[in-house]
Amino acid sequence: MSIKHEKDVIIACDFPDGEKTLDFLALFGSERPFVKIGMELFYSEGPDIVKKIKARGHKIFLDLKLHDIPNTVRGAMRSLRALDIDMCNVHAAGGRAMMEAAVEGLTRHDGSRPLIIAVTQLTSTSPEVLQHELLISRPMDEVVMSYAQNARAAGLDGVVCSPLEVKHVHEVCGEDFITVTPGIRFSCCDMDDQARVTTPALARELGSDYIVVGRPITASPDPVGAYRRCLSNFIG
Ligand code: C5P
Repeated sequence: MSIKHEKDVIIACDFPDGEKTLDFLALFGSERPFVKIGMELFYSEGPDIVKKIKARGHKIFLDLKLHDIPNTVRGAMRSLRALDIDMCNVHAAGGRAMMEAAVEGLTRHDGSRPLIIAVTQLTSTSPEVLQHELLISRPMDEVVMSYAQNARAAGLDGVVCSPLEVKHVHEVCGEDFITVTPGIRFSCCDMDDQARVTTPALARELGSDYIVVGRPITASPDPVGAYRRCLSNFIG
């Protein structure tokens, strides 16, 4: 099943608590950006923070990267289903049966469900770690594409990847397979801890479906201006 989606900018709300997050979102007035809630905020505030942000009218990508046995992931997704989120994710390394169970757990009685995407390899995993620590001897690109194909076969909607991998993912998995891409900076000199960065305009050129932007917006002296700049450079 393919779910209709539109290209968008997702703000990574990597704040330590709910108060800081809600204060930040209040800066946007009546504008309602798509937001990403990660483990830091979810584990400190629980499902309530998701309900509060949702009640204000934002779309939510709940970035919890589930990875466990299929039965546990099915149950966890069933719990998340009640939160009315718009996007969530799992680790493709959990395997096809786990990803299929995730889709089952997330699907509502009427057959609808949020988008579900897979993390292929974390961008913090270097080729050296892949080979010598995880003992995966195939090249990184081959591993990422194979995990993306597993995710597609399991019925997922897309993957998290670098904008630089988008073209290859679309070639291997189809143009309708969603690519959600972090590692975005206005200038390729501002890296923070990201190893490979791309501007919103380049991400657009490379065919990203969603860009995930954290510090270039959250740490900007003008977060709303930075968000609008991302939107206009990425979507036009
Ligand atoms: O601040 P910055 O723009 O680097 O934030 C990027 C966001 O995307 C963070 O929330 C980070 O956890 C997330 N992310 C990432 N790389 C991945 C997967 C997720 O940067 N491969």
